[in-house]
Order: sequence, then structure tokens, then C-alpha cells
Amino acid sequence: MFKYGTQDVNADGHLEIGGCDTLELARRYGTPLYVIDEADVRGRSRAYLEAFRAHWPHIDVAYASKAFLVGEIVRLATAEGLSLDVVSAGELRLALWAGADPSRITFHGNYKTHEDIELAVRSRVRSLVVDCLDEIEAIDRQARREGVVQAVDIRLNLGIDIHTDPKYTTGSLESKFGLAVHTGDAAEAVARILGCAGLRLRGLHFHLGAQVVDTKYHRRALHDLGAFVREVQAGAGRSWRPAAVTVGGGMGVNYDGVTTPPTPAEWARDLIPVFLREVVPLCAPDVVFGVEPGRSLVAEAGTTLYTVGPTKHSGARRLVAVDGGLSDNPRPIMYQSVHHAVLASNPELTGAALHESTVFGRHCETDKLIDEVLLPDLAPGEVLAVQCTGAYTHSMFNQHNRFDKPPVVFVEGGRARLVVRRERFEDTILTEIRETDADADADADAGAEVSGPDGGNE
Ligand SMILES: Cc1ncc(COP(=O)(O)O)c(C=O)c1O
Repeated sequence: MFKYGTQDVNADGHLEIGGCDTLELARRYGTPLYVIDEADVRGRSRAYLEAFRAHWPHIDVAYASKAFLVGEIVRLATAEGLSLDVVSAGELRLALWAGADPSRITFHGNYKTHEDIELAVRSRVRSLVVDCLDEIEAIDRQARREGVVQAVDIRLNLGIDIHTDPKYTTGSLESKFGLAVHTGDAAEAVARILGCAGLRLRGLHFHLGAQVVDTKYHRRALHDLGAFVREVQAGAGRSWRPAAVTVGGGMGVNYDGVTTPPTPAEWARDLIPVFLREVVPLCAPDVVFGVEPGRSLVAEAGTTLYTVGPTKHSGARRLVAVDGGLSDNPRPIMYQSVHHAVLASNPELTGAALHESTVFGRHCETDKLIDEVLLPDLAPGEVLAVQCTGAYTHSMFNQHNRFDKPPVVFVEGGRARLVVRRERFEDTILTEIRETDADADADADAGAEVSGPDGGNE
């Protein structure tokens, strides 16, 4: 068994996380259940800050909240000194509701709606990251309306392909994200922003994609970013000096128990020298080096507990059904992503006790959760722990077949805290309008019209 974070086997032989017995968690909170290893997230947050600060004092680590966004993770990340990256009015509202400081929030998005821009500027976020030429004027207008000068960054498309699954790639020329350097759009964005009274061009940003396990693409991107700044400074941006350079996230994780992605210390060791050599001389003093990890802060800290249902045989292979699937983790279907799983009551079984198995969910789809995993014979009611599910699972939940959204429990030091309860049917129908309700609303509206301003209709 590959032990993520604080995972261990307790005296009863059960899988424990954060000192909590997973069978007990499943009994107490039901399944499916998202379990988050709090100490692991804290450790990773500190590791990022310490690793990068060891090379350059002006470091900003922003948690990419899209990876997993509940109030308690915002509180945890900000308490650890991280800032936040959000990508919609909804993510911003949740972050603010959880107490995040807007001056430490960066607002992204390839299509920012009017509502997004209005809320972000009105909330005084640290920066909006400009992703297209069209939004520059809208952000400037909103800033002037508010009587503020809004800081913005530019997301560059540097035309770098990370050579993984195309669905993971966001920095190549075909990507919908960012302003392309090679077409001249990025330089045009610099010139336009510098001409806007309501905007201050803070810095540059790039994000190449997800699950990157080699630092060479980011090194090349920093080199190319330096070349772009030199080009800008030779033209319209002669006196402009970036105050921030941000490497979007994308740092890979160990999904399969075998991959060894670079650690934060290795990312810092490889990236900061390129930054110091090729970018810092072109920048404002004290330029901030930013990094925006999402997956690599929370993926390995998450485990989903499921109850095993019926099992079948297909030749030598066992087909195992669990009580969740596509709704609580769409990633295997969307990305053919790999997860590992163990039997919570006996995670260290080895050898002949294990058989090739495929784990399915219970949706009315072929929702294969794990294509190939070695598991013992399983009986209905046993608890299966699917590992490395902290990122892009809860945040990608969908209501297919109307399963309830599972609860989230944080575990640390032998204590479990329920931070999101299980969704109830009543929660899911709050936005539904029945014909009888609609009639009642229409009657009420009609009544209001007849009654006039004083409320009387006699
Ligand atoms: C702009 C930006 N920053 C950071 C991230 C986080 O990426 P990851 O979760 O792969 O670290 C993303 C992910 O899509 C992103 O678009």
C-alpha cells in the first residue's frame, strides 16, 4: 500500500488518516465520504513557501481554489500564509464568505462576465488576470466607475506544449487561454493597459497545464517570458517593469503510487535560478515571484471512502461496484485518470489474497472509477478507500442521477471535523419552481400591481 500523507495502519489493522480510523469515519458520516488530511495540506503549504523563500524573499504562493473549494480549506490555506486564485464570481464569493482578504486574491478566467468584473473590482481584489483583449476596456471602465486604479496581470500564451494528455494542456498555441505572444496580442495588451487610466499593469502570468512532472517546460516558459519583457521594453512599454511574475500551477502529483513528481524544493531549485538570471534584471525592485498550486496542495491529502455493493466476475477479473462514482469523481471518465484503492479494514493485504479488479460506480453510465487495481475478495458493506482524490473531485461534483453530494470531513491528530454535511434532497430542490408556486407568484405580482403604492386596493 502506498501511504499518502499521514495514512497508516492502526492497531486494529485498519487504514487510518490523521489518526482517525477510516471504518469509524465511514460508520459515523456515511459513504461516499471525502476525507481530507489536514496536516498534509498544511505541510505542503509550508513546503511551498519555505522552498521558494529559500531562493528569493518576495514569494507569493496562491492556492488555486478551483482544485477543492470549501470554506474550511480557504481558512486553512490563508492561515498558512497562502493567497488565493479564483476564477468566477462564485469562487470569489465563497472565498470572501470564508474570510479571505480580497487584497490577497487574484481573479482569473478566459471569459469574465460583467458580473465577474464588477464583483472583482468592487471587492478590491489584488489583481485581475487579463486573458483577452476584449476585457481590458471593461475592467478599466469598472475601475473608473469605482474610482480606483485596478491592478491587472496579463496571462501569456507562450506556445509551449507540455506533451501530456491534450486535455491537460493550456499553454500551447491552440489553447483557449491567455494572450498569444507570437500573434502580437500579448504586446498589444501591454500597450492598451498602459494607456488605461483605471488600470495598473502589475505583472505577467503563464499556466502551461496540469499534472506536469518535469520542470523543463516551466523553465523554458520563464526564459520566453524574459524575452517577451525585453521585446516590450524595446517598444511601447519602455519604462514598464513588471512587479510580479506568476507561474500558474500544474505541479504534478503521485496518482498511481509510482510517479515521483518534483517536490516544491525541486521546483524552486529549478525555476528560481532562471527567474533570477533572465527575468529579475528586467523587473521592478522586489519583484514578486508567484506560484499557484492547486492539485499538488490537496490531491494526495484527499481520500474518498465508499461502501462496496455487488461484485461480479468477468473471467479472472472482479468487477466491484461502489456507492458513488461519476458524480463525486468525474476525473476517470474525463481524463482517464488513475487512482489507487485499498480495503479500509485491511489495507496491507498482499500476494495471493489479491485479484485484478475493476471498480465501477453506481451511475447509469459505464462509470469506471478504477480500471485496474489489486483487491481482495470483497463482500457488500465493506469500505473501499480510493486514494489521492482531494483535487478536482468535490469541486467537479455533478448531480447526474441525483445522488446527494457527499460530506467533507477534515482529520488531524485523531480528531475528525465535519466541515460540509451531506447534501439532502431538500437542498437540491431549492431552485425548483412548481407550477402551483409559479401561479402563486404570478397572483402575488398581479396583486401588487393593482394595490398601488399605498398598498390598498379597495
Ligand atoms: C491560472 C491557473 N492557475 C493555477 C491552476 C492550478 O493548477 P493545478 O491544480 O494543476 O496546480 C490552474 C488550473 O487550471 C489555472 O488555470
